[in-house]
Amino acid sequence: MAFIGGGLFGRGPRTIAVNDVSFAVGRREIVALIGASGSGKTTIVRTALGLQAPSAGAVRFCGRPVDTLGASERQAWRRRVQLIFQDPSEALNPRMTVQQILLEGLAIHRLGTRAERQARIVEALGFVGLAPADAFLGRHPHTLSGGQRQRVAIAAALVLEPELLVADEPVSMLDPSIRAGILELFRRLRTERGMSTLIVTHDLPSAYNLADRAHVMNRGRIVEEGDTAAVFRSPRDDYTRRLIAAARGKVQEAAS
Ligand SMILES: Nc1ncnc2c1ncn2[C@@H]1O[C@H](COP(=O)(O)OP(=O)(O)OP(=O)(O)O)[C@@H](O)[C@H]1O
Ligand SMILES: [Mg+2]
Repeated sequence: MAFIGGGLFGRGPRTIAVNDVSFAVGRREIVALIGASGSGKTTIVRTALGLQAPSAGAVRFCGRPVDTLGASERQAWRRRVQLIFQDPSEALNPRMTVQQILLEGLAIHRLGTRAERQARIVEALGFVGLAPADAFLGRHPHTLSGGQRQRVAIAAALVLEPELLVADEPVSMLDPSIRAGILELFRRLRTERGMSTLIVTHDLPSAYNLADRAHVMNRGRIVEEGDTAAVFRSPRDDYTRRLIAAARGKVQEAAS
């Protein structure tokens, strides 16, 4: 993935943000993408979601290159892959109530009757721990805590019954005391709903606790990949070793 600098007409230096990166997320799998700031994690996420086109290479979903999908298949792909943002305040429309937020995606994708939609959003709020639903449906995002807002954002994805969740630093804006609860939701989405998750994080304990596999990025390349436990136990790459050493106290805490 290359960015051309120099403004509108693309003159100026070319930044190679991500280069020669290839990875897959399998069914019911949680994969962590770890790396320092600027290493290219968000670029990968945006490319994987089709928000920006790769300058070379392809994104495949269920084996199909996504740039070959027709309009209706593209719409289906947009439902089946949902994005969870770092900052739920930005993701949620401040003028809408929780009910309107949760209904919006269902309306866009024309899913269910009115009664079915209502049942689905109540169920999703319960799943993410916002119950009773009546206590939340009429509220606006700014009246919720940061953790509750992220739960609403996850519920908004969940009502669409996606197969893959892509979460870009979903807990880094949240107070450490409520991070574990949100990470637990991703775990339950896998075990209870069979979802796959690609989670971007620079928080090693989160990756360690949650992911089956980890990919470590440094300066636009994947420098290490494998079973999360193995990567943390015996990192082969020097950058990964330094990252782990820097976080050692935290990882040990999380592992114990
Ligand atoms: N639209 C853009 N135009 C030019 N360069 C960009 C653009 N977006 C990202 N970059 C550059 O690409 C590189 C990777 O950025 P990216 O946002 O993917 O990093 P990141 O790993 O997500 O970092 P962070 O942890 O801070 O979110 C950086 O050097 C960044 O400055
Ligand atoms: Mg980023």
